[in-house]
Amino acid sequence: MAHHLSNRANKMLEKRDFLDQYAMLCLHDPYHPVLNEKGYVNLGTSVSSLCEDIMLERMKDPSLFKFTSKDQHYFPMWGIPECRKAIANCLTRHLSPNMPLHEDNVLVLNGGVAAMEVLACCLFDPGDVLLTPSPCYTRIFVNFNERFQVHVEDVFLKNTTEDEGTVTFELTAAILENTIKEQMKRGKKVKGFFLVNPNNPLGEVYTSELVLQLMSVCHRYNLHFISDEAYAMSVYEPETKFQSVLSLHSKLVDPQKTHVIWAFSKDINLAGMRIGALVTWNEDLLRVVKNTSMYTAVPAITQQTAALLLNDTVWLDEILLPTHQHRLYIAANKTREALNSIGIAVRPAQAGFFFWVDLRPFMKEINQSEELALFKLLMEHKVYITPGSEMRSLEYGWFRIVFSAKSEILNEGLRRITDTLKELKNDN
Ligand SMILES: Cc1ncc(COP(=O)(O)O)c(C=O)c1O
Repeated sequence: MAHHLSNRANKMLEKRDFLDQYAMLCLHDPYHPVLNEKGYVNLGTSVSSLCEDIMLERMKDPSLFKFTSKDQHYFPMWGIPECRKAIANCLTRHLSPNMPLHEDNVLVLNGGVAAMEVLACCLFDPGDVLLTPSPCYTRIFVNFNERFQVHVEDVFLKNTTEDEGTVTFELTAAILENTIKEQMKRGKKVKGFFLVNPNNPLGEVYTSELVLQLMSVCHRYNLHFISDEAYAMSVYEPETKFQSVLSLHSKLVDPQKTHVIWAFSKDINLAGMRIGALVTWNEDLLRVVKNTSMYTAVPAITQQTAALLLNDTVWLDEILLPTHQHRLYIAANKTREALNSIGIAVRPAQAGFFFWVDLRPFMKEINQSEELALFKLLMEHKVYITPGSEMRSLEYGWFRIVFSAKSEILNEGLRRITDTLKELKNDN
């Protein structure tokens, strides 16, 4: 037990989020084809390097970085009007909201994770339950629980076999409802449902029909519906249309209980800028977040740059986003082909920066310790991909592989993965 810390901090001291821990490990010893050939290839952290050239070019523009005496002083900590307006306009252009999206409904916070924590603080009492489909982006558990003690519980996605074949990790309204009932039987107070759409780690875009069925269940049990749409503009399959909950025409979209999270980290390729947005029509929620926004403020000078980038609609809508989506498409196809060529099945995906892949054929037994042994072996070969059990998958042997790295890094990572797995096949 560390001295001088609170009990709360002592508990936090022992925990380190898996994704964060390995991202930092790779950051300290990153592979470089010339400068550090033996470094780690990080195909585990969900960021995109595919548009670094476009970002570097755009950021050279000095007019993006203005400092006036206004910037010496305090400002509306929930977002300067220019930035909230720029986000509202950007989401209006790209998510076709049904209800008019006004800057007053947009709050700016330091990242999507901050938006989650604010919701944990303002919608849930300690011990209240939030449900989310698993496998999942595991920070949902940390962000809601670590400081505000929300109990996040899994809605485990199951494999279903029909005449047409097996659907892996399927989300249905029935499994959501069953999980709510199980929680209620245990005497738990279920207060919310958190959907990541497009999904991380599956890369799946959920249909509006399914989303409405899920909303209908939430409506029946009086739950908040939180839609994390961090990958809304990272849909790369041309045939796939993503529909934001903001665009759904239905009475089920309860303005008091529907909240949307969006961020710069994925779609705008700017994880380092730490800008997230929370969109809500709930007046009380808006008020309380504003009152406490000192904790989550993004520097005004950063928000100005962010607003100028989003308002440059020619650059954003005609250059950055189409290139981002096209390069994701190319990288996804290349990765799928490389993995398929050595017999790795890739779950169909339409969006995001990653594939959910089945490495069970390379495991002697299908259990968690074998999955982690495979993870360790890959780490020994200096390539990091995320084991499914660390994303709360009940089925062992699945991994998330990020394909949005720079081409030479992706190639090296795929080579290390395929070499390691081929060796294993030969050994078996
Ligand atoms: C679904 C989802 N939401 C939110 C975040 C976090 O976003 P930010 O970096 O803006 O905190 C991530 C990051 O991986 C994510 O995958």
